[in-house]
Amino acid sequence: MIAKSFWKNKRVFLTGHTGFKGSWMLMLLEELEVEVCGYALEPATEPALFHEIEKNSKFKSVISDIRNKDKLEKEIRDFKPEIVIHMAAQPLVRQSYLEPLETMEINVMGTANLLDILRNVDSVKFILNVTTDKVYKNNEWIWGYRESEQLGGKDPYSASKACAEIVTYSYYNSFFKEKNVKIVTARAGNVIGGGDWSKDRLIPDYLKSLENNEDFVLRNPNSIRPWQHVLEPLVAYLLIIEKLFSKNISEHELSWNVGPKLEDCVSTNDVINQLSKNFENNLKIKSETNGTAYHEANFLMLDTSKIQRELSWSPRWTLSQSLKKIAEWHKEYVNKSNMKNVTINQIREFLNEQ
Ligand SMILES: NC(=O)c1ccc[n+]([C@@H]2O[C@H](COP(=O)([O-])OP(=O)(O)OC[C@H]3O[C@@H](n4cnc5c(N)ncnc54)[C@H](O)[C@@H]3O)[C@@H](O)[C@H]2O)c1
Repeated sequence: MIAKSFWKNKRVFLTGHTGFKGSWMLMLLEELEVEVCGYALEPATEPALFHEIEKNSKFKSVISDIRNKDKLEKEIRDFKPEIVIHMAAQPLVRQSYLEPLETMEINVMGTANLLDILRNVDSVKFILNVTTDKVYKNNEWIWGYRESEQLGGKDPYSASKACAEIVTYSYYNSFFKEKNVKIVTARAGNVIGGGDWSKDRLIPDYLKSLENNEDFVLRNPNSIRPWQHVLEPLVAYLLIIEKLFSKNISEHELSWNVGPKLEDCVSTNDVINQLSKNFENNLKIKSETNGTAYHEANFLMLDTSKIQRELSWSPRWTLSQSLKKIAEWHKEYVNKSNMKNVTINQIREFLNEQ
């Protein structure tokens, strides 16, 4: 349960606000009457959810690079945030094979830049670093990874996020702990939701094929992932901050898994089969088992016992509800509806299901 009274008028500095998760987070924070300053690059896609929701919004938006430390510091000092949510990243596994060094620079040094600035900013009380379920050394286990499991990462993206975790712990132990500034990492699984136009992601690719009425190529149909609606981790992030904000956090509270129920960890093939039931069409689906020369883990699941037990968080929308919401969002978009209103309405429905 999110306490609106906690969030009202809090000052949040949000990196990566122009991205898919960032744009949903902006709307969620606006709904909670939070004062937000976003810091990110221009949206990487066209169309972009950010452009759909930015009109008539109250948040401050700074378009700049996380690697530009002087600019980042100036904006943080001007805004004086109490809470920082760090989402800016190069988040795509395939892109990380094409641009490994840039991925490291943004995801590792970008995080280090931010934390290095924040250690000298007195207004800051809480920092949440958004990493990923891919930070674990993947053993292709059939059970979920726990927060205490070994970090790893075969591909450059996963490795960069695992490094960002280590950078975070190092800054916590070296600087933030003694100042009683809380800093945690949150590891969420694959998120889905309306308004994602990123490259090489399952649902955006499917919706593109649908729009163009062309065959859909399903890469790695048997890969199992922990699917969840984007609002699930975003609300979990806020809950983590809210519940730990006034508490002395201990070592075991530094990282949190956020993932769906076991029954919603299904294959990409299952996701597409379920999603397609929400549309009236006969799109032809071609499966490509070795569709990529790049390594991507086949099996990845998170153990979320800790957040469920200690913060009373649990997922709200099942996979089939989430897919229905995505289909509804997409149909409104095709009908040229006001997508800011559609997005806010979905947020309200979600919050009301608390
Ligand atoms: N989408 C997922 O399934 C998923 C799953 C787990 C974790 N994550 C994490 O969540 C966060 C957000 O992911 P997303 O899916 O919204 O990605 P996205 O690509 O939609 O957004 C990334 C954001 O980071 C910003 N950014 C990228 N490079 C930057 C730079 N050099 N300087 C400043 N800003 C920069 C972009 O402008 C954008 O605002 C990332 O940290 C990602 O690793 C995403």
